[in-house]
Amino acid sequence: MKVLAFNGSPRGKRGNTDRILQPFMEGARAAGAETETICLKDLKIKPCLGCFTCWTKTPGVCVQKDDMPILLEEIRHADITVYATPLYIFTVSGLMKNFMDRYIPLLNPHIIKRREHYTHPRRYEDMPRSRVVLISNCGFPERHHFSGLVETFHRFTDDPDSELVATILCSMGELLRRPELQDFLGWYYEAARKAGSEVVELGHITPETQAILDKELMSLDVFLSVANAYWESQIAAPEREKGAVEPGQPLQPPTALSTTLRGAISGMPLVFDIQAAGNLQAVIQFDVSGEEPGQYYLRINEGKCSAFEGKHPGPTLTIHTPSEVWMAISRGELDGAQAMMQGSYTIDGDLNLLIRLKDLFPGVPAASGADKQIQKEK
Ligand SMILES: Cc1cc2nc3c(=O)[nH]c(=O)nc-3n(C[C@H](O)[C@H](O)[C@H](O)COP(=O)(O)O)c2cc1C
Repeated sequence: MKVLAFNGSPRGKRGNTDRILQPFMEGARAAGAETETICLKDLKIKPCLGCFTCWTKTPGVCVQKDDMPILLEEIRHADITVYATPLYIFTVSGLMKNFMDRYIPLLNPHIIKRREHYTHPRRYEDMPRSRVVLISNCGFPERHHFSGLVETFHRFTDDPDSELVATILCSMGELLRRPELQDFLGWYYEAARKAGSEVVELGHITPETQAILDKELMSLDVFLSVANAYWESQIAAPEREKGAVEPGQPLQPPTALSTTLRGAISGMPLVFDIQAAGNLQAVIQFDVSGEEPGQYYLRINEGKCSAFEGKHPGPTLTIHTPSEVWMAISRGELDGAQAMMQGSYTIDGDLNLLIRLKDLFPGVPAASGADKQIQKEK
């Protein structure tokens, strides 16, 4: 059995669509299928001219000279065709639409009634019944964004020679290609893999697997915080640093193991790992509530980390946290990533930077680390 997939994302293999498609194809292979993935962005596919020459003067052959004849030949012999596309303005991407429009040389122009609908019969009788899988992801959290896309594919396969056998739709899809979330999303990729095997073995996705694939990737609250923090971190980040005046008061490092949040933050520069920081330039703001409320920030610049009390006007990352939560994290009693997913604290700004904190500040801030750090900085 041949499973042929078309990836319609302009990001190709670096995109979110591919993060669902590849485990699906792995599952199909594990079930014994031969698989092939074609990234449409890598091919020359011109738009349909609407001339219908492929139906009249040169039946089955388009006037456009590009890579499309090879793809039509591949489609003719595939048992299962996977259309994998990001959602663009409630439907397929432009790449995918161009490609789908160019499908018409495979049809015969005559209009006939089959079942209760009128349709164009296929040009080639030896084509296997086309079993179609739709895979898509979208940026918004609401699944209703897919309604037009799904309707398109129902119509696209609405004849006795075709069938839409499976649909995988993932909202919040921009999370899929985030390196720091790959472990967290393992359950979703596993379900996509299972779906690939099931489509090959059973001809459909089981309700159990479908139920997993239909789940939200994370809670709406956490998603909104992660997504907006990401965009905030991407918008003109270098601008923030221009002409910056140090607005806070320098914090002195603690002389003994600290039991206060202020002490814990002022001790963070002592365990700062210069190698892990590389050429990082960032400001990490702590907006602290709870038992020990306060505003503190860490400035990382030119291989150095300094702590300040006060509010920075353009932090790279802001951590809004009760003091008790951050103390528990810095003492190693609470896992930082898990605590955020559970909503124990929230962030604005660069999520990647939050994920890097463990590497940037290995160990608990303590006076005992001071000598080591001072030597490193010499
Ligand atoms: C031009 C454009 C239009 C988009 N339209 C929608 C949309 O209508 N609804 C939505 O939820 N996301 C929309 N998105 C977001 C994409 O679906 C989202 O970024 C997706 O993860 C991209 O997948 P990819 O990485 O495989 O290309 C749009 C993105 C672009 C660039």
